[in-house]
Amino acid sequence: MNQDQLKQAVARAAVDYIKPKLDTRSIVGVGTGSTANYFIDYLADIKGHFDGAVASSEASAERLKAHGIPVYDLNAVDEVVVYVDGADETDPRLNLIKGGGAALTREKIVAAVAQEFVCIADGSKWVETLGQFPLPVEVIPMARAHVARQLVKLGGDPVHRAGVITDNGGEILDVHGLHITEPAAMEAAINQIVGVIANGLFANRPADVLLLGRDGEVETLH
Ligand code: A5P
Repeated sequence: MNQDQLKQAVARAAVDYIKPKLDTRSIVGVGTGSTANYFIDYLADIKGHFDGAVASSEASAERLKAHGIPVYDLNAVDEVVVYVDGADETDPRLNLIKGGGAALTREKIVAAVAQEFVCIADGSKWVETLGQFPLPVEVIPMARAHVARQLVKLGGDPVHRAGVITDNGGEILDVHGLHITEPAAMEAAINQIVGVIANGLFANRPADVLLLGRDGEVETLH
């Protein structure tokens, strides 16, 4: 299987994984990106089995609606049974780097609300230590240079993702050169910088389950 086929396989496996957890009142949290897009397409096959979805981006909301899946504002729902999303990197403890698609803040919010976070990823995302993928940090635009200087002090090399404005009106710094041996501490340290909206480390709320596509199979890791 090539990378695209592995993305489809984990997306399909996620629908099989969550289906027994759903009833007609259930709200499903839906992530962003190419793997999440496959998940949305397969989720449409079980439309009658759940009430609707909350989305981590405008793009995913549009795709869900195009399939006839109701999309709710997160403030209007009592609970999110499960959140399914891709990742840019995962380590063996299921700490993640996310935000390659610039949706990290809303992804983090939906993941925080969800009872269970299921990550879906092809094997290229698996690393022993996070940081080979540049860590996305969403910032208030007027604070970008200040945040960048503070990120240099933390050992990183931040690069402005020029031309990208997030769904929240933020800008993105991609931080190169980090070797993240303590992801939870790094996540907290970056959050302390004034002007940071969120960073793409999911270590204080890692995935609960990883459906990982490699060697032609889908492994379930906890
Ligand atoms: C979106 O902001 C990201 O967190 C995505 O979940 C991540 O970039 C994975 O994307 P792909 O599924 O397209 O690889």
